[in-house]
Amino acid sequence: MSSDIYKLPKQGDSYESVMDQVKTLRSQMTSGQRGKLASTTFQGHEEMEKLTHEAYGQFLEWNGLFTFQEAAAAKMENEVLDICIDLMNGGPESGANLTSGGTESNFNAFHAMRKWAREVKPEITQPEVVAPYSTHSTVHKTCQYLDIKVVTVPQASDLSCDMRALEDAIGLNTIGIVGSAPNWPYGTVDPITQMGEIAIEKNLWLHVDACVGGYILPFFKQLGVDVPAYDFSVPGVRSISADLHKYGYAPKPCSTVLWRSQEEMSYHYMPIDAWACGLYLSQGFVGSRTLGPVAGIWSLMHYWGEEGYLNNAKRILHVKHSIMEKCASTPGLKPWPTDGPLLMIASDDFDIQLLVGGMEERGWKLLGVTTPPAVHLTLDVMEEEYLESFLQDLEDVSRDICDGKFTKEGLLTYGGVGAEADAPKWLLTAVEIMNKKNTT
Ligand SMILES: Cc1ncc(COP(=O)(O)O)c(C=O)c1O
Repeated sequence: MSSDIYKLPKQGDSYESVMDQVKTLRSQMTSGQRGKLASTTFQGHEEMEKLTHEAYGQFLEWNGLFTFQEAAAAKMENEVLDICIDLMNGGPESGANLTSGGTESNFNAFHAMRKWAREVKPEITQPEVVAPYSTHSTVHKTCQYLDIKVVTVPQASDLSCDMRALEDAIGLNTIGIVGSAPNWPYGTVDPITQMGEIAIEKNLWLHVDACVGGYILPFFKQLGVDVPAYDFSVPGVRSISADLHKYGYAPKPCSTVLWRSQEEMSYHYMPIDAWACGLYLSQGFVGSRTLGPVAGIWSLMHYWGEEGYLNNAKRILHVKHSIMEKCASTPGLKPWPTDGPLLMIASDDFDIQLLVGGMEERGWKLLGVTTPPAVHLTLDVMEEEYLESFLQDLEDVSRDICDGKFTKEGLLTYGGVGAEADAPKWLLTAVEIMNKKNTT
């Protein structure tokens, strides 16, 4: 790694020159369409991009920390959050907060869970939450910050949540259960109804991580897709995290954490008055934040309405069925059944990393699952032309692998692994630090 430190230029440059450089850098990024099923999902709807970007720009400079001074900002936030509560089958007693993303939404939920447990289960000094192995990494991360142990339960052999094992894992230190709708690695909605029954019986806090599904599953359901129950319609669900910047199509960063009632919310807020400027109260963990995403999602919700979200969901189902059909007719490819907008492709016939490598050669940068090995697709609307080229590439690459003509493996990764020379410095340093720690 270079030890040079890049310095602030002594003199400024012209607007045109800087903007030229910005545009060159932008053109070097993976195109919206080629990254569509992984890194650039939720970009590239022309009509909505223009609207949300413009709305974002109008509010970019306003600080969301001070919405109490701005009735217009409060109106946008109130309307967005009411819509979110409604989509999650909450009622007038429910509440919601805007956050910066799924990580922060999960953080806020586990923080509230821990505070609740300190009050109602004061005998527990080393709190634990029970979670299926399929649970997202950010649950582990946020629980590490909060000093909550995650007791992970292996999946059943069909990759579903093993409810018996989950129940067996509940012990004297358990304060909560985590389910996902859907979970990221396997794309299935966990048995939230059963989890809710156990949570009520044992007085545990059930948190549902619906970061991926929160804002698309309601529309899949309306379109007749059989989606297992996961929201506040399930007794026992106390909090839900749901990302507007995923299938809500909000410009990033934008997510929500939702609370069944004021009781749960009361453990969330962190009022601070032991300082020199009066009461400090924020929606979540983050302090200053741009109002851009709020304006972006408010504008999209009003531009699309329910009809637009339904049309979007319909098109995503079309993409899902097209890819599943292609896999069924292509030797070597095996998609596994999912409940929502994710789709995983495995193979019994060849090393699936070859498929990642082959698709990468054709410009598609895909993510992966390692246990068991599979390609991970975050489905999104795609222009028919790009969908066709993706399907053709899938077929061609698989055929070449089966014929022994292609042997270059790609990585099954979510992020961070496989950092190469042109990766960001922080990542290279982080990997170096981790490696050093692992060898000492
Ligand atoms: C199920 C689930 N939870 C949480 C997250 C974290 O979301 P974010 O990256 O917005 O913090 C993700 C991200 O993909 C996710 O799939």
